[in-house]
Amino acid sequence: MQIDIHSHIIPGVDDGSQDMKTSIALLRMAAENGTTDIIATPHVIDVSTTLTWDIIRRKVEELQKEADKNGIPIRIYPGAETELNWDLLELIRKDHSAFCLAGSRYCLMEMPSLMLPPNLEEMIYELQLMDIVPVLAHPERQMQLMEKPEKLLELLKRGCVAQSNGGSLTGVFGPKPHAKVHMLINNNMVAFMGSDAHNLRHRNTDLSGAREKIVLHWGEETATELFETRPKCILENKALPDALYLNRLPQTIVKPKQEKPKKKGIFAKLFG
Ligand SMILES: [Fe+2]
Repeated sequence: MQIDIHSHIIPGVDDGSQDMKTSIALLRMAAENGTTDIIATPHVIDVSTTLTWDIIRRKVEELQKEADKNGIPIRIYPGAETELNWDLLELIRKDHSAFCLAGSRYCLMEMPSLMLPPNLEEMIYELQLMDIVPVLAHPERQMQLMEKPEKLLELLKRGCVAQSNGGSLTGVFGPKPHAKVHMLINNNMVAFMGSDAHNLRHRNTDLSGAREKIVLHWGEETATELFETRPKCILENKALPDALYLNRLPQTIVKPKQEKPKKKGIFAKLFG
């Protein structure tokens, strides 16, 4: 079993797949590389515009029919990658499953890559009062959180959970997110891995490379937790057992040692 909780596979609704042919190819690629379940998470930035929760659910049904017709053994669920704002909070207040992952109590949130929203904590608190679990999408790509990962740890200790991208681990986004995702997994701060697939090129639905790397560095058990056990809690709308995440968060974050620049020898000084 392999569950991908973050993907842009619905055709023509955001900057992900642009047509049904691409969506089907992305689903086939996912299934061929071990994914059995995938949550479609189109960007929902302004909830007052066109992409409503009803439309997302309907489009997922259509996509599932096409996948079945093409003989692709994969189960697709509705979801969204939301930009946290007060309008969205109001919609969730009215309908608790709206824009949440597979209609559960988990809501995938994207934070702007440079600046965190000024009232982030307040909005997270509001969500938690509604019994919603904020899932922070790819924190390894958020500058402020990675400059000060203690801030992320504080959010996780308060009940948020983090999802990292397979591509960050395989180097698709460059060396910085790659190093950061290593640091986060080393510190048990990542709850789920996801593809965040947008296209058939480098940001695709193949999670096999990321899974292999996790098995290699952290072992089979960690891979099973990141791709199966914990995401299954989302599909079943169950709380993540503390023993599986919260209790394993570090007291202080262990960061890789900064390499000191080597002192140059006399020959290097003269001829280097
Ligand atoms: Fe995304």
